[in-house]
Amino acid sequence: MNIGIDIVECERVKNLVSNKIFSQEELEYIKNKNGALSTIAGLFAAKEAYFKAKGSGIIKSELPKVVIDHHKNGQPFYKNEHNSALSISHTDTTAVAVCIIF
Ligand SMILES: CC(C)(COP(=O)(O)OP(=O)(O)OC[C@H]1O[C@@H](n2cnc3c(N)ncnc32)[C@H](O)[C@@H]1OP(=O)(O)O)[C@@H](O)C(=O)NCCC(=O)NCCS
Repeated sequence: MNIGIDIVECERVKNLVSNKIFSQEELEYIKNKNGALSTIAGLFAAKEAYFKAKGSGIIKSELPKVVIDHHKNGQPFYKNEHNSALSISHTDTTAVAVCIIF
């Protein structure tokens, strides 16, 4: 089992909304959240936490392939990694994510 955690300041993700980082479905999710910086930061933190759990370090070109989807109740999960768990939390200014890969 491996764990990864990341914390992101919401202000820093303002210019990150692109398909170089987010998948099409994530961009749709962000749109549905009216572009909330806390949501963007949470998704970005989830991607970085994933790479930490993998132990690979962040591979920029693979950021859009780490896809965060949500169950009907809103709980996030990694679509690309079934044996995993993800939790995201945020305030207006900061987001944090924890990834566990079993
Ligand atoms: C979902 C819940 C745990 C979020 O807690 P919170 O303190 O409000 O918010 P946090 O910043 O800690 O977490 C928000 C993130 O949790 C995640 N999340 C959303 N629903 C979730 C759920 N059911 N389970 C786990 N994680 C969830 C999402 O990633 C969300 O980020 P996003 O909105 O940007 O996509 C909380 O609102 C809850 O328990 N809700 C119960 C169901 C509900 O919606 N009740 C409201 C009417 S009574």
